[in-house]
Amino acid sequence: MGKGGTGKSTVAAALGLAAVRTGRRVLICEIAGRRQVWDALAGGAAADPYTETELVPGLHAVSIDPESALEEYLRSQLPSRALFELLRRSRMFQYLVAAAPGARELLTIGKVWETAQLDRPWTEAERRYDLVVVDAPATGHGLALLNAPRTFGEIARVGRIRRQAGKIDSFLRDRQNCGVIAVSLCEELPVSETVEFAQRLREEMALELELIVANALLPDRFGEQDAAALRSVDGAARSPIARNGISAALREHSRAGAQRAHLSRLAEHGPITELPQVFAPELGLVELTFLSEVLERAL
Ligand SMILES: Nc1ncnc2c1ncn2[C@@H]1O[C@H](COP(=O)(O)OP(=O)(O)OP(=O)(O)O)[C@@H](O)[C@H]1O
Ligand SMILES: [Mg+2]
Repeated sequence: MGKGGTGKSTVAAALGLAAVRTGRRVLICEIAGRRQVWDALAGGAAADPYTETELVPGLHAVSIDPESALEEYLRSQLPSRALFELLRRSRMFQYLVAAAPGARELLTIGKVWETAQLDRPWTEAERRYDLVVVDAPATGHGLALLNAPRTFGEIARVGRIRRQAGKIDSFLRDRQNCGVIAVSLCEELPVSETVEFAQRLREEMALELELIVANALLPDRFGEQDAAALRSVDGAARSPIARNGISAALREHSRAGAQRAHLSRLAEHGPITELPQVFAPELGLVELTFLSEVLERAL
């Protein structure tokens, strides 16, 4: 979980890679048709992202779509194939998903739950995973996913839906099964959003953050003495290259200092793991593997 653009997909991929190295079979679920993890790991290979696919040995990915989740669910629940086909032709599925508030979220998190079961109730193929990593949508929407089984269960009049929503809700809230990880940048807004998320998670779900990943930390290359020495020559250097170099160094030093201050605010809300800023134009398998090794050591 985390604010938009803070590195959720990056951390999801890195966690997956770290788990694969320990011999686990892993599935990464992307939500609402996104495929960032998929593109980073498979280099944009044109396969169907809605089908669970092994991208790296042991590491699978899928993009979850509520309409297909509903089809799978109904196919497993309805007594006859003919009835299912009839419903499908009537476009009833799309209406159902569009009409019931919270249905998209419930179906999405329901599908995530389904992928994590050893006996997969909606899927014919025998696929089992040791770990399912969910690359959640940005904070508010992510929390709505976690909340959906409980809120839907409370309003559902139908016994079966209520029972199944209850099962998913207790699975999500059992720390033996699930952990919520927040990803944050060490900047004002992402930190405030993470703090608010941690509070809402506690109030609404009675859950604590398992881990906060402080992402993209800059190296702090200078001590205060070095910085003071740099400041004393700043402006005095004659060469423009030297002047630019000095001001870039000072700027990075002050950003790194600001990040440390935000980091201590984050640390009040859960155990922290730091990930460095990687200086590369794009993060591919090599950079993600590097980040996964940092994560693995920290964990
Ligand atoms: N530690 C890092 N070092 C360098 N670049 C990073 C790091 N973490 C993430 N990035 C880059 O920052 C950008 C945003 O990261 P990412 O896509 O993982 O964020 P996100 O939270 O999944 O975003 P969205 O909310 O859009 O799904 C990407 O270009 C990614 O490659
Ligand atoms: Mg993402």
